[in-house]
Amino acid sequence: MATAVEFTLNGNAVAAIAEPGETLLSVLRNRLGDTSPKAGCLQGTCGACTVLVDGEPVLSCLLLADAAAGRHVETVRGLAQGPQLHPLQEAFMERFAAQCGFCTPGMLMAAKALLDHNRNPTRAEVIEAISGNVCRCTGYLPIIEAILEAARRLSARG
Ligand code: FES
Ligand code: FES
Repeated sequence: MATAVEFTLNGNAVAAIAEPGETLLSVLRNRLGDTSPKAGCLQGTCGACTVLVDGEPVLSCLLLADAAAGRHVETVRGLAQGPQLHPLQEAFMERFAAQCGFCTPGMLMAAKALLDHNRNPTRAEVIEAISGNVCRCTGYLPIIEAILEAARRLSARG
């Protein structure tokens, strides 16, 4: 039987109907209209669907929507503050870290989870943080450089 699931999405209280077994990715994209998490492999191997749940990166194609009830969900759609891009978004643009862009929302959210916890990550920590996110375009180096650049900017802000 379908149930109503309530949670916070990018700071706003939301409610949606979820069928039994429906994933958070499906609810976000198909019921709440937030298509920023991408539907890639749908089996937990590409990272394109990565969102944050209570600050931790989660593969939303594997998480049942019911499990998000009462929790705080963040998607890339909530990253910018009005016209002000998040430093990660700025650095991704400047460093050409997005090509086709399909992996980018998941990359950004995995990187945000890292930088929210650690403003001064090592290159190895950055690589580890995005190790579950597949990119078929960039060769990863521009993404790693962009995340390190965003970390520098965030650290400079204190
Ligand atoms: S769509 Fe979720 S990991 Fe690929
Ligand atoms: S930019 Fe195309 S998959 Fe990463």
